[in-house]
Amino acid sequence: MSRLQGRIALVTGAASGIGLATARRFAAEGATLILSDRNGDALSDAAKSLPGDGHEVVVMDVTDEQAWIALADRVKTRFGTLDILVNNAGFGKFASIADTTLAQWRSIIAVNLDSVFLGTKYMMPLLAASGRGAIVNMSSIRGIVAGAGTGSYSAAKGGVRMFTKATAIECAAAGNGVRANSIHPGHIATPLTAPAHADAEIARSLLADVPLGRIGQAEEIADGILFLASDESRYMTGAELVIDGGSTAQ
Ligand SMILES: NC(=O)c1ccc[n+]([C@@H]2O[C@H](COP(=O)([O-])OP(=O)(O)OC[C@H]3O[C@@H](n4cnc5c(N)ncnc54)[C@H](O)[C@@H]3O)[C@@H](O)[C@H]2O)c1
Repeated sequence: MSRLQGRIALVTGAASGIGLATARRFAAEGATLILSDRNGDALSDAAKSLPGDGHEVVVMDVTDEQAWIALADRVKTRFGTLDILVNNAGFGKFASIADTTLAQWRSIIAVNLDSVFLGTKYMMPLLAASGRGAIVNMSSIRGIVAGAGTGSYSAAKGGVRMFTKATAIECAAAGNGVRANSIHPGHIATPLTAPAHADAEIARSLLADVPLGRIGQAEEIADGILFLASDESRYMTGAELVIDGGSTAQ
């Protein structure tokens, strides 16, 4: 249980769901965490539940550029470097294109895609200073295959997928030792999806889409993120890790 011993890792959206499961997994593997979320109360509870000490808590909105600049300063002062960045914060709201307002479109793009750009831009000097930096960007199977009502979300998550590849190539060309990969969960049980999973009809149609016949757990995504963040994936960059119970195989 020491795959991340001595590593400094920043996880956004760490107060809930996949981000929280990832923070727990990383801490159990010896990492020191910087936990970020806009929900301060849940974030404090999350930090208290982690093994190990020295973890930091940062309440911020991932769409706020000034907050990222301040966070980079804080990480530099406290740690001098950053080994792992998990750009996980995000949300989805499904609606037809006709029913989506421009404000709703911009909000989905901002939280899911602008956040990844800002995190990458402002944390890159610290990741490069690590010499073994790893970025894991949260996409979705909706960044690979679309569906009715997923216009804004698929555009954002598809953007994350391609931005990750551009990041990987730019880092490789710079020779700064930073790898970047995207992760693509299918249907996962988290507070975000609980209302949909509680609706019997929606739950049935989601399950019909999963060859393995069950909804995934946040910990099953955290395991994939751990792999992409650790040295075990040292020859992977610009790649996509799909964890979806087979949904996109059919
Ligand atoms: N659950 C799924 O089925 C699923 C599938 C594919 C991709 N994803 C992606 O995984 C990521 C995590 O989702 P989850 O299911 O764990 O959701 P969740 O709602 O349980 O957790 C998301 C966390 O992000 C935080 N957050 C949201 N917007 C923020 C903002 N603007 N600034 C700071 N923090 C913010 C929330 O406060 C919350 O704590 C999201 O990017 C989501 O799109 C989820």
